[in-house]
Amino acid sequence: MLDPFGRRISYLRVSVTDRCDLRCVYCMAEDMTFLPKSEVLTLEELDRLCGTFIGLGVERIRLTGGEPLVRKNVISLFRNLGDRIGPGGLKELTVTTNGSQLTKMAGQLYSAGVRRINVSLDTLDAQKFAAITRWGKLEPTLDGIFAAKAAGLAVKINAVALKGVNEEEYDRMLAWCGEHGFDLTLIETMPMGDISGDRAGQYLPLSLVRQRLREHWTLTESSHATGGPARYYDVAETGGRLGLITPMTHNFCESCNRVRLTCTGTLYMCLGQDDAADLRRPLRDPGVDDEGLREHILAAIARKPKGHDFVMDRAAVARHMSVTGG
Ligand code: GTP
Ligand code: 5AD
Ligand code: SF4
Repeated sequence: MLDPFGRRISYLRVSVTDRCDLRCVYCMAEDMTFLPKSEVLTLEELDRLCGTFIGLGVERIRLTGGEPLVRKNVISLFRNLGDRIGPGGLKELTVTTNGSQLTKMAGQLYSAGVRRINVSLDTLDAQKFAAITRWGKLEPTLDGIFAAKAAGLAVKINAVALKGVNEEEYDRMLAWCGEHGFDLTLIETMPMGDISGDRAGQYLPLSLVRQRLREHWTLTESSHATGGPARYYDVAETGGRLGLITPMTHNFCESCNRVRLTCTGTLYMCLGQDDAADLRRPLRDPGVDDEGLREHILAAIARKPKGHDFVMDRAAVARHMSVTGG
């Protein structure tokens, strides 16, 4: 699957629910209205769509949300997708989660075929965690992270860089991640949705963070690549890795390999653009067969824009980050 700019689309992010048990300030508004069930694709429908994408050349699938692990019976989707791993099929099945459900689900994820996960954790301070997530408790996430490690999953910690909120913590987080064998990725906050917070005031360019971290850590550019947007550095003191995701200061659109499917079957061709295709209608239309569905997908890919045009002082798109899970 090639887009109009010659980029090969091999990666699908699937948001399996718009719901979440937390309300991170940069991701959702405080009082969210969630979708009625009738609008949301069933797990079987999501599996069929994923199968169609795999038939068209998608090699990696990441389940996101909202919080993917709060969707009832989501493990059955993981199992079905896990069965699609193999030659000519999927190379990797991953998940981005807030970690709150991992104590009960980590083992099941591993059994389904997941080998690495990304866990959102912006701070190791319980009070700050509660402030960022609006009401969350740090402990279940930490317990979940260690349950994942014990289950054999490689863990990467995602922290959104927030000026005046967690900016004093990156040294501590890098040390903590190194100690436990986790990679750490820092992310520049992106202007999505009307979140009513001080987004521009909290924006922190990672070029500055990298400069500060270099005062205490030896960072050398790494050849490590996940197929995602992070640029990695090896951290000599810990033997671990630091990833930086810089959509604002150094965007990576020219090598984009991905599209995003929401739980209602809407396909967004770019995180920072509104252009979308409705795949639910053809999916639910008995007159549209698998070939017809493939044609709808290819027509959408042919409209993939060149890149985002995020600027910090206004939301580039009205939808919240939680619609596509990043
Ligand atoms: P890996 O497979 O580990 O590389 O995962 P990832 O970094 O692609 O995914 P993850 O869900 O951990 O996302 C981390 C951050 O990267 C989130 O803030 C996402 O919004 C952001 N991100 C992921 N893909 C894109 C992209 O294509 N464009 C932009 N601008 N941001 C992205
Ligand atoms: N900007 C950057 N990253 C964000 N995330 C959620 N909202 C934003 C935002 N506005 C991150 C989450 C999660 C990942 C999928 O996206 O913290 O780790
Ligand atoms: Fe790709 Fe759009 Fe992301 Fe840029 S912002 S890397 S084009 S999805």
